Amino acid sequence: MYAEKVLSGMRPTGRLHLGHYHGVLKNWVELQQEYPCLFFVADWHALTTHYDEPGSIVDNGWEMIIDWLAAGVDPSQATLFIQSRVPEHAELHLLLSMMTPLGWLERVPTYKDQQEKLSHKDLTTYGFLGYPLLQAADILIYRADKVPVGEDQVPHVEFTREIARRFNHLYGREVGFEEKAREAVKQLGKKRAKLYEELRTRYQERGEEAALEQAHALLDEAQSLSYGDRERLFGYLEGSGKMILVEPDALLTASARMPGLDGQKMSKSYGNTIFLREDPATVTRKIRTMQTDPARVRRNDPGDPEKCPVWQFHVIYSSETTRQWVQAGCTSAGIGCIECKQPLIEAVLKEQEPMHERAQVYLDDSHLVRNIIADGCEKARKLAQETMRDVREAMGLDYS
Ligand code: TRP
Ligand code: SF4
Repeated sequence: MYAEKVLSGMRPTGRLHLGHYHGVLKNWVELQQEYPCLFFVADWHALTTHYDEPGSIVDNGWEMIIDWLAAGVDPSQATLFIQSRVPEHAELHLLLSMMTPLGWLERVPTYKDQQEKLSHKDLTTYGFLGYPLLQAADILIYRADKVPVGEDQVPHVEFTREIARRFNHLYGREVGFEEKAREAVKQLGKKRAKLYEELRTRYQERGEEAALEQAHALLDEAQSLSYGDRERLFGYLEGSGKMILVEPDALLTASARMPGLDGQKMSKSYGNTIFLREDPATVTRKIRTMQTDPARVRRNDPGDPEKCPVWQFHVIYSSETTRQWVQAGCTSAGIGCIECKQPLIEAVLKEQEPMHERAQVYLDDSHLVRNIIADGCEKARKLAQETMRDVREAMGLDYS
């Protein structure tokens, strides 16, 4: 059975916080058990907005990788690497740029949004306009099927699908495609071949989506097929030609929005974060000094948890019993705010304990992380090189 691949990247923005943990990393840790996963540091993407202050990219990258490992991302399960150490991404970006209409890039919503948000920077650059195309190259070069991202990144995955479709349409017509496809059908074995032909006819003549789906499932299960034949048969179903690049799906991370210390979304730019590897004393202080419902001026003033950022932490960290205790105690002034915060301090410290432990191993010996990344880059590069061979050939650049 063909295993679906997961890929995601993160820009090296500095130390990660609990928002990253609950929003992204916990999800990566689950995915790595189910799928072959590739996770990478998008250092070139960081340069698209920080080209004028590149100084901290490398250090931020290493720190971030330690945060990933601390969170439980496991290099024996997932492949971890750095974008710029796999220069094939840049080659694919360049080749794709030849066929990418400018209008498509200008219409990606993050383009105008980010320019407005970061208006103190000059982002009318070629590199910044190409941000989504570089991301498309990151994804397509591994023929990734699933891309776990937050909501803001969904348009980029959608854009990637359009690029893949356009590419396959323009370059997927290999010489002798029909004959090769018919040969590939035979590789399925008699019974499956017959079913495949039937489903193909039903889809092509009557547009039956269910037939298309069933045919996809059939191909997924066909073990005897080479990669090329599989792709041919996928393409042949829709009559379009060989599918050289794979259209990915966004895997929307259905995460509870992690509130910050002040009740707004946790974000470095709001200064309301608890870092993933924050030391216990600071965590304790940060939670102790969190704002509470302003109605609770004195100890015996009752409050309303709905108006309190501390309550939002309880929603994420506390059991039903504790939450009932908070509700009852807050509205009746039966508990004080310091008391209310105590179970949270304990819960956050408990969550962070294994993270500190895992990180310590890597902090003690920096070779470990370097080796993990060297390994990961090598693995990623092999995959990327395979795709690039097909891409070059399809675009008429095969000099072998
Ligand atoms: N643009 C993504 C972000 O800001 C990072 C990223 C770069 C990425 N390349 C990617 C995410 C490929 C997923 C897949 O979060
Ligand atoms: Fe907030 Fe808890 Fe104080 Fe109520 S008792 S105001 S929920 S910190």
